[in-house]
Amino acid sequence: MPATIVLGTQWGDEGKGKFTDLLAADASMVVRFQGGHNAGHTLVVDGESFALQLVPSGVLNPETIPVIGNGVVVDPFVLLAEMKMLSDRGVDVSKVRVSGNAHLILPYHQQLDALHERHLGDAKLGTTKRGIGPAYADKSMRLGIRVQDMLDEKIFREKLHTSLSHANKILTKVFNRLPMDPDDLADKVLAECLPGIKPLIADSIDLVHSALEADQNVLFEGAQATFLDIDHGTYPFVTSSNPTAGGACTGAGIGPKHIDRIIGIAKAYVTRVGAGPFPTELFDEDGDKMVDIGREYGTNTGRRRRPGWVDAVMLRHAARLNSLTELAITKLDVLDTFDTVKICTGYMIDGEKVSVLPYHQSEIHKAEPIYLELPGWKTDLTEVKDVADLPVNAKNFLDALAEQARVPISLVSTGPGRKQFLHY
Ligand code: GDP
Ligand code: IMO
Ligand code: MG
Repeated sequence: MPATIVLGTQWGDEGKGKFTDLLAADASMVVRFQGGHNAGHTLVVDGESFALQLVPSGVLNPETIPVIGNGVVVDPFVLLAEMKMLSDRGVDVSKVRVSGNAHLILPYHQQLDALHERHLGDAKLGTTKRGIGPAYADKSMRLGIRVQDMLDEKIFREKLHTSLSHANKILTKVFNRLPMDPDDLADKVLAECLPGIKPLIADSIDLVHSALEADQNVLFEGAQATFLDIDHGTYPFVTSSNPTAGGACTGAGIGPKHIDRIIGIAKAYVTRVGAGPFPTELFDEDGDKMVDIGREYGTNTGRRRRPGWVDAVMLRHAARLNSLTELAITKLDVLDTFDTVKICTGYMIDGEKVSVLPYHQSEIHKAEPIYLELPGWKTDLTEVKDVADLPVNAKNFLDALAEQARVPISLVSTGPGRKQFLHY
């Protein structure tokens, strides 16, 4: 390894959690670098399912230190509830650490997120309403409150006064809501969260670099995905952070030269939750089949995910943006019963063939996919553990996908369980 990034190459829910958990067996540390509890990462181990939002997916490996990096936005109530849920289920959470520089999501961020969405009406983004955007906005406006601020009551109260004096004006004057009292909120956070959060607060930069300097493997776990990136995604239908590889550098405090492997996780098809363009989106029986078989309902919000065929134009773009060294393909088994399977290799836009993702988003809205159609394998793959046992049509699909994406495939997942994968 020693430094490996696992990230999403589509619009999220590719199975980042599953592969992070799997690769964490060889890592001394798993670091989340962006996003917050808008993420929903599902791990299935020995038939038991764990849905994680904030705690890094390395937590099920007792030797691995799960670190929440400086780039993450942390709701302290959610973090403590998630750790309690894990602990109640027998998971050791004593090694979890959170960067003192991570920013807090507080109840007014969530309220503002919901109000902004309501205000946008038909133009709404379909956010998770977890307060992600407003918390990152406060960070950029220099109104944010960092985890370390909780350690100094005077500073914490002062910062909460400043931050809320701004937020309250928006709540009351723009949205006609009641203001929040900064001292009441400070009392609540300090009483209910500080005792649990204090032992977790750490200098994550020193933790990560000490591990790298000792030549230990460190895994950086992306949340969301390349096309939800605030700079590179389908703006404004994006999240408010950088889930691309560069985000691991800023969100965990490492330079690019440390990174050896950048694994892009891609579903064998595509899903998207929330609004925004989606060239290969399906509104037919094939799409319904993907949703039914793939159980494509949000881990986090329960919303039906929009389905579509895998899009190699997007994957080529993701390969460029992230310097992908390899792809890990998930949910191949979901296509087991399809007579034929498709890969989008380019778009027709205004009568012209296009093979690079257009920078002008109006063109993405107009893009008609050009498909390579291949025969399905019509075989249950969920028990296949060796590439030699893959049906030839499944191999042909994977080889065509790697060729089209221009990135080699190194891992293939054939079911939700930790053991359901093969090296490719
Ligand atoms: P993440 O957000 O990228 O970690 O992905 P999610 O956990 O939100 O969504 C992926 C879903 O697919 C989860 O329910 C996983 O348990 C499940 N999953 C992961 N890999 C596979 C696979 O290869 N086959 C099937 N059928 N399910 C999978
Ligand atoms: P994981 O890590 C899928 C989507 C939301 C919405 C947009 C903005 O599980 O892959 P936000 O609440 O972040 O401001 O919402 O981003 N979104 C996700 N979609 N998987 C996720 O995370 C997502 N996190 C945010 O649906 O369209
Ligand atoms: Mg998810």
